Amino acid sequence: MIKFNSDDLDNFLSVSDRAEAYLKAEKAYKDLCEGNIPGSEWLGWRRIVAEPDDAEIEEIVSYASAVRQNADIFIVCGIGGSYTGAMAVIRALNPHFGHNGPEILYAGHHMSGKYLSELIQYIGTPFEDGRKKSVYLNVISKSGTTLETALAFRQLRRWMHDNYEDAGKRIIATTGPSGGVLNKIIKAEGYKKYVIPDDVGGRFSVLTPVGLLPIAVAGIDIRTLFYGAVSCFRKESENIGNLFEYAAARYLLHEKGFAVDVIGTFEPELFGITAWIQQLIGESEGKDGMGLYPALSGFSTDLHSVGQLIQQGRRNICETLIVVDEPVSDYVVDEGNSEDTDQLNYLAGRPFHEINRSALQGTVLAHTEGGVPVFIIELDKLTAQGLGELIYFYELFTAVYVLMLGVNPFNQPGVEDYKKAMYSILGKK
Ligand code: PA5
Repeated sequence: MIKFNSDDLDNFLSVSDRAEAYLKAEKAYKDLCEGNIPGSEWLGWRRIVAEPDDAEIEEIVSYASAVRQNADIFIVCGIGGSYTGAMAVIRALNPHFGHNGPEILYAGHHMSGKYLSELIQYIGTPFEDGRKKSVYLNVISKSGTTLETALAFRQLRRWMHDNYEDAGKRIIATTGPSGGVLNKIIKAEGYKKYVIPDDVGGRFSVLTPVGLLPIAVAGIDIRTLFYGAVSCFRKESENIGNLFEYAAARYLLHEKGFAVDVIGTFEPELFGITAWIQQLIGESEGKDGMGLYPALSGFSTDLHSVGQLIQQGRRNICETLIVVDEPVSDYVVDEGNSEDTDQLNYLAGRPFHEINRSALQGTVLAHTEGGVPVFIIELDKLTAQGLGELIYFYELFTAVYVLMLGVNPFNQPGVEDYKKAMYSILGKK
């Protein structure tokens, strides 16, 4: 279960303000449930957990297992909501070093020619024993027109067809039901296609084939991940008070003029998850002059960097820390020598997680005393189930909180502005 711990907010927000904002959160949720909201045509992220499509999940599990047997490399080609969720879950649950199954690489998430050409060189370089690498490519774009993804797909697709006779079977496309250039290419080439439902927006799509296929190829149990989200949905009415408190508190800080929410974690495994939360909240709330800028921090690394600014800089910052209750590892500090040469014997035998937890507790105390309200989001365990719960919790939180601001959580009209300017510079007709 996901918990919002509000113990440290009392110095910043009054009980009466919180009670009033809580009612506003309740109202936003009620409107959401009744579909009485701007963007009501985008509520598919709730529909998919309300009515799980087990047949689709099983098909993805079995297809991914075949890909795992044949692939050395699986490339996820997408940007924004079309790759952030998969990357987050894979980074959270797979080992830091090496890979269990195909190596998962990413493309189409920026326009660096250096990156793409080096990627192509890497996948084309045989193993030391001379064996050719077996590469699979998953292009993911709901619109099928996003330039970053389309350009990378053009290069990679050509490379795939130049290098494999069966390239058509190694390219998998995940896109909207119809329309878009990508659908035309899929039809012409006969690529395998997964559909992103019309009513699910990009950043809310990790539990569709957008995220599920790459996550399954990475060897993660997507049934458990998906049903973690389903269990969070099914227990929604029991636990929603916690989510309302969180939404109410963030809303009040927004109203008070806070400008930045530092989204951080002390578990490097969760850096991808904080990036997913950043994208989910930032693209949803940042419109009509609204929104807290969701900045990312990885701790304790950043305590030796922007930690100074968080502690003593301009006082318009709040902080969200994603915490895992159960230790993520049982690795302990070495015994050292009897002379205590490095003067660390007071930590000998103690688990790193305990030391990391002390750093977290110390940081919460220091930041709170320094005038930074801290939200703590706790998940019980770092498992597929826990991450599924966290994903659904944050999707619902984002929708409720952004509706409280009075804006549509599900569109991103501002994204078009850079595209128009860029296309005009590039001379696109
Ligand atoms: O949340 C969103 O809708 C965006 O972040 C999109 O996912 C992103 O722009 C990529 O779009 P597409 O999947 O159409 O290529």
